[in-house]
Order: sequence, then structure tokens, then C-alpha cells
Amino acid sequence: MQELLSKIDKSRLPRHIAIIMDGNGRWAKEQGQDRLFGHFHGVESVRDIVEGCAEMGIEYLTLYAFSTENWDRPQYEVVGLMELLVKTIRGEAEGLNKNNIRLHVIGDFKMLPDYAQRELQEALDLTAGNTGLNLIMALSYSGRWELLNAVKSIAYAVKKGQLDVADIGQETLQQYLCTSDFPDPELMIRTSGEYRISNFLLYQLAYAELYFTSVRWPEFRKANLYEAILDFQGRERRFGKTGEQVKVAEK
Ligand code: IPE
Ligand code: IPE
Ligand code: MG
Repeated sequence: MQELLSKIDKSRLPRHIAIIMDGNGRWAKEQGQDRLFGHFHGVESVRDIVEGCAEMGIEYLTLYAFSTENWDRPQYEVVGLMELLVKTIRGEAEGLNKNNIRLHVIGDFKMLPDYAQRELQEALDLTAGNTGLNLIMALSYSGRWELLNAVKSIAYAVKKGQLDVADIGQETLQQYLCTSDFPDPELMIRTSGEYRISNFLLYQLAYAELYFTSVRWPEFRKANLYEAILDFQGRERRFGKTGEQVKVAEK
């Protein structure tokens, strides 16, 4: 693992990594266990990856923990996930704070049960002054929900005369997204072998490098993160330009 870490160019780290933490249910099934057992073990991976990012000096880490569509899962799983969320936040808040990590939440906060909102709010307040890793939890989040909200808010601002249609630019739209305070992710990782975005950061991932691994989330550890970053560092990010233009600009 140290060898992998030493291969990473510390001057070219992604500022923002986003992860779709997928495969808890399948991992549990493979162990002959209930899906909730998988979610429970997934928390260990969260802890390890947050620690790994903080150690490396990554500035932003967004974790997709619960999507808008996940509300449609069986009731016992939804309740189990909410309880796990609360227990985890309660257990980890002090540790996050000690490590100078600032917690953020993106998503439809009001959809979460009251007890979860309260626990999260405490952790948000506790860590609000921290200046290290920004840990962004996507909860009851989906890209389409976010874009719809943004469109409604912009339309409302125009109606009230606060905004001129001619002045609406990319920056305006960005300001109305939940991620207005964060740069776009440069690297998006999805575990467990699925090659899709599943309604995650649809606008923000426009130019992210996508990394897919078959490793199930409960088994994803720092070494897997280092592999993803190394893969990222081997890519040529062209942003629509030609490879030649990119090489000239790098010189
Ligand atoms: C990801 O694991 C966690 C959440 C979506 C909450 P899954 O629960 O989707 O696990 P699989 O994909 O069914 O294996
Ligand atoms: C995406 O995983 C959401 C999270 C990881 C929170 P899903 O398991 O819900 O996505 P699909 O259903 O495979 O597209
Ligand atoms: Mg899944």
C-alpha cells in the first residue's frame, strides 16, 4: 500500500473526489447475510476513505450515501439506513472535528426523518469552523431533483424581478445548485461493477474522469483509492481541445 501511495504525484491530486458507494447489498448476499449487514460494513469503508483523503490533503470528498430513488426501497431497509446514518454521525462527529474535517450535506434535507436532521445539524454546526477536508454527504440527493430545484428558484427570482433572463449564465446556474460552494469533482469513482451515474451530480460531472471498479463498497479501502488516483493521473484531460493543444499548454 505504501508503494502505491509513493507512486502518486502529490502535486497533481484531484481537488475533489466523488464516490458512488455501491454494492453493499450484493456483498452482504455473498456473505449469506441481510442487506443491512452490508450497509453496516460499508461504514468501515467510509471511515477508511475519509481518513485516506484527509491524510493526502484532498480538499473535497463527496459520498453518495442515499439517492432520491432509494426512498422506494423496502421500508425496513430505508429505516435501517436512516438509523445507521444517525448512529454513524453520532459516533464519528467528534473524530471528524478532531481531524479538522468539515461536514456538509447536499440533498433534500427535509425529506430525512426529524431525528436524523437533528443529529446531522449538530455535526454540521460542530464542524462548521474546520478548514481541512470538506466531507460532503449526498443524502436524499439526485441530480434531477437538484436541477429542477435550481430551475424553479431561478424562475422565481426572474418573476420577482431580482434576476434578468439575459444575465443568466453558467455561473448563475452553478450558484443555484447545492454544490455552489464546491469545485466540480475531477474524479468520480463507482464501486461494484455498475457502469452508470444513477442520478449523481449530473451537471457537475460534465468533465470528471470516471473510474469504475468491481470491488464492492464494503471491501473498498485506501489501497483501492490510491489505485483510482493513479489511474486518474495517467489520463489526459482535454476539455474538448486536441491532445497537441493540451501538451503545449502543459509546457
Ligand atoms: C449502496 O449499496 C448503498 C445504497 C444505495 C444506500 P446498494 O444497497 O445499492 O448495494 P447493491 O447495489 O444492491 O449491491
Ligand atoms: C446509487 O446506487 C445510489 C447510492 C450509492 C447512494 P443505486 O444502487 O441506488 O443505483 P442503481 O439502482 O444501481 O442505479
Ligand atoms: Mg446498488
